[in-house]
Amino acid sequence: MKTVVITGSARGFGYAMIERFYQNNYNVVLCDINHEELEKAKNKLDGISSSGKVLSYILDVTKEEEIQEMISNILNEVDTIDIWVNNAGVNQPMKAIWDLDSKDINRLIDIDLKGTILCSKHIMPVMLKQKSGAIYNVEGYGSNDATMLGLSIYGTSKRAVTYFTEALSKESHDCGNYVCIGKITPGIMITNFIGTSMGDGEKIQLDEKTKNVYNILGDYPEVIAEYMVNKMINNKKNGVKFAWLTTSRAMGRFFKAMFGIKNHYFD
Ligand SMILES: NC(=O)c1ccc[n+]([C@@H]2O[C@H](COP(=O)([O-])OP(=O)(O)OC[C@H]3O[C@@H](n4cnc5c(N)ncnc54)[C@H](O)[C@@H]3O)[C@@H](O)[C@H]2O)c1
Repeated sequence: MKTVVITGSARGFGYAMIERFYQNNYNVVLCDINHEELEKAKNKLDGISSSGKVLSYILDVTKEEEIQEMISNILNEVDTIDIWVNNAGVNQPMKAIWDLDSKDINRLIDIDLKGTILCSKHIMPVMLKQKSGAIYNVEGYGSNDATMLGLSIYGTSKRAVTYFTEALSKESHDCGNYVCIGKITPGIMITNFIGTSMGDGEKIQLDEKTKNVYNILGDYPEVIAEYMVNKMINNKKNGVKFAWLTTSRAMGRFFKAMFGIKNHYFD
């Protein structure tokens, strides 16, 4: 039976992907910094039928020793770690760079960028030893070079995650090509993330224009997780990118919105 680990999987997109993998009879590893949400996630999985196991760990992806300890604990329970998704992430307060608290800047880079790097560093040798495995990194605003006021540090970290993923894919290729590395580009998801900064920090006030864009382009994480999990389960290639909100999907949504067809998450 295959095993998947998803960081930041107590809620939102991470949890939605865990649920899909579990329904597909994978052993699933929930890991998150938020203890209460982790308990709720475990309870929700209890109600789903699957032949997979559920493992759960409190993990802060910025703490290297916690990552190492968790990997060795997982390998005491299952034979292999087949898929690892670097999903844990936080949004920034909607402020210009010079108005941000330096503590928030450091913490965001530590979670969104360094967390992905550290987890990849520690899971890669395990997968190389297995001669199989896949690591997927979740992209976000900025991955495609877009910029806007209030998203610059988040965008900086996601742009770097994109570069890092491409570099890791090349290194995997040059070291036997046993491990598939890929990018996951989810688009806009209606989760806690879009309304709260720094995980569970201060609320983000969305203006009317942004709410309208989210109503048009946004989806619940379950919808996108179903698409992404099918892609990951069937993937055999290194260097892939799985994108939900493609240009054609976005154009289709804006076209429909001209006739009033859109979601109403914020009405
Ligand atoms: N929501 C969106 O519109 C959107 C769009 C593009 C990309 N993303 C990305 O998707 C990923 C998931 O976001 P989401 O929308 O599900 O948000 P979310 O806030 O619902 O979930 C993020 C999870 O990460 C956890 N987390 C935060 N810091 C952590 C740490 N140090 N260690 C371990 N876990 C930690 C949180 O506790 C939470 O459970 C993030 O990487 C985000 O950047 C989100």
